[in-house]
Amino acid sequence: MCGIFAYLNYLTPKSRLEVLDLLVTGLKRLEYRGYDSTGVAIDSPDSKNIVMVKRTGKVKVLEDAILEHFSGGEYSEPVMTHIGIAHTRWATHGVPCERNSHPHRSDEGNGFVVVHNGIITNYNDVKTFLAKRGYEFESDTDTEVFAKLVHHLWKTHPTYSFRELVEQAILQVEGAFAIAVKSKHFPGECVASRRSSPLLVGIKTKTRLATDHIPILYGKDIRPHGQTRELPVLPRSDSTSEFMPLEEKEVEYFFASDASAVIEHTNRVIYLEDDDVAAVRDGTLSIHRLKKSLDDPHAREITTLKMEIQQIMKGNYDYFMQKEIFEQPDSVVNTMRGRVRFDGNAIVLGGIKDYIPEIKRCRRLMLIGCGTSYHSAVATRQLLEELTELPVMVELASDFLDRNTPIFRDDVCFFISQSGETADTLMALRYCKQRGALIVGITNTVGSSICRESHCGVHINAGPEIGVASTKAYTSQFISLVMFALVMSEDRLSLQQRRLEILQALSNLADQIREVLKLDSKVQELAKDLYQHKSLLIMGRGYNFATCLEGALKVKELTYMHSEGIMAGELKHGPLALVDGSMPVLMIVLRDPVYVKCMNALQQVTSRKGCPVIICEEGDEETKAFSSRHLEIPRTVDCLQGILTVIPMQLLSYHIAVLRGCDVDCPRNLAKSVTVE
Ligand code: G6P
Repeated sequence: MCGIFAYLNYLTPKSRLEVLDLLVTGLKRLEYRGYDSTGVAIDSPDSKNIVMVKRTGKVKVLEDAILEHFSGGEYSEPVMTHIGIAHTRWATHGVPCERNSHPHRSDEGNGFVVVHNGIITNYNDVKTFLAKRGYEFESDTDTEVFAKLVHHLWKTHPTYSFRELVEQAILQVEGAFAIAVKSKHFPGECVASRRSSPLLVGIKTKTRLATDHIPILYGKDIRPHGQTRELPVLPRSDSTSEFMPLEEKEVEYFFASDASAVIEHTNRVIYLEDDDVAAVRDGTLSIHRLKKSLDDPHAREITTLKMEIQQIMKGNYDYFMQKEIFEQPDSVVNTMRGRVRFDGNAIVLGGIKDYIPEIKRCRRLMLIGCGTSYHSAVATRQLLEELTELPVMVELASDFLDRNTPIFRDDVCFFISQSGETADTLMALRYCKQRGALIVGITNTVGSSICRESHCGVHINAGPEIGVASTKAYTSQFISLVMFALVMSEDRLSLQQRRLEILQALSNLADQIREVLKLDSKVQELAKDLYQHKSLLIMGRGYNFATCLEGALKVKELTYMHSEGIMAGELKHGPLALVDGSMPVLMIVLRDPVYVKCMNALQQVTSRKGCPVIICEEGDEETKAFSSRHLEIPRTVDCLQGILTVIPMQLLSYHIAVLRGCDVDCPRNLAKSVTVE
């Protein structure tokens, strides 16, 4: 999804070339989010104008264009204060091309330039309004209307400050967005805001900051209810009385869509909330809100990121996805760290422990997510039903919203999301919250929207996941939900034996994952057999059905091959027609309660001349006898098998993608964090 990166240096001399280098590096850190074009804007050498460079394709293409464009010595002169903005665009309105790339400008003179993430849903209305006033549009984007709207407000309200102009413009737009705005009329200033799209401000100073909080300043909410069309009639906000912003002498600010873009510069960040307007003027950062609500805190806290730069670097691996697959022995331990006491068989989930009595009284559990996160719910549903003895519904966020699903005050709704920003999941969360349900967030991103809007939750602590296709986040989500099931069954005497068995298996999990990862070269050989085929069917049932869905998703995402996860119980009801001697089939057949049924399916496939690849348990000769191709995994408790069976699927999709020459970390048309519905 689109990525914003802006950099402001105040009294910290930097040449424009250095600024450009920072901007390009910032964009590189955001590449994993998925994008199809890029752009930057900086001041011209005389500081009287703004120059922009935009390119279709990768950040590297932009970097080359920058080197070509800004070769003159004047760009090497240090400037004391400067603001540069940059963007990776994931096309929503208009095809990927330079014309549609950000930054977008207000006028031919580049008075105001804007980078934007999200969708302005009423952009057609605003466009019509502006067109009537003589504005001509040069792109197909929704973003351009914002730049022109700020310009229109500036012309009609020449005394307004930059921040006030942006505030007024924000009041007129609807939808989800994060924006950063630069203007030649307000040199050295930057204004940024967000609504339902993530944005944070990184702060770098030479000495430790004088405060850990930025007070929030309020204006008057002067917009008559429902007014969005009539522009501009708004009096100025009045916030001077409380003005007590962060004031540092030499300071650098970074505005970014996520922390991975700022961590190499500073670990001190403020996560902006919806409708916050962050403005920097004379090196001073202030945060404003137009509307005061009762539960608003008085200040935004500066948080210290725990992330390390190494965590977002590839190290010795060729791809982030490969690194993340191989990190799983550690990431699963990190998910359990400080929570599972193997010696005392106790589990504490600090983020939800106070809510456990309420959860135990609930009517049902609902698990809601998209993509891989949804699959982690499918994977753990059976165990949750068994250990909580509650009805468990598993929902795709988009479908859940389409159906206007009935939600009750005594429902407990889990929102599972690696990024914590997926628009459909976030919308579903708000829908359930409005109806009074208890909201539990299961996310990997501290400070994300889902984190902040949940009543309670579990951070899965898998560490930053950069590859668009989710791997380690899946296994950590899986474990988080297993831990929750264990917490819920703590006082059930009849379930103690089962709990012990699962805890024992959890303690062996990291070593067993290491064992499975040793299959890598065998999987690579298998990939050589499969990569030229058009399709791959993945069959299983019970605890391993989720692996079939997740495996098929990985194959689709990474290799662009058709792949289907098939519930083996449904084989006779259609999919069997696809099976012949040439159709590649992978079957998961483990020694668990559905083993006999899986063997039945295996026989059905082999008797149609199918030659499946079998994922089975180590040393299971009886099952192996059905095919010459198998991947053996260590034995574990039934409900954790899905963690061990998904890893060969991750490896397989990875190797097929490499063999097919696909972009492993950034598959075409996909985004890491889908912040639009
Ligand atoms: C996108 C990603 C998937 C991910 C899904 C949900 O589609 O490409 O890998 O599973 O979003 O993302 P979330 O951050 O909510 O887990």
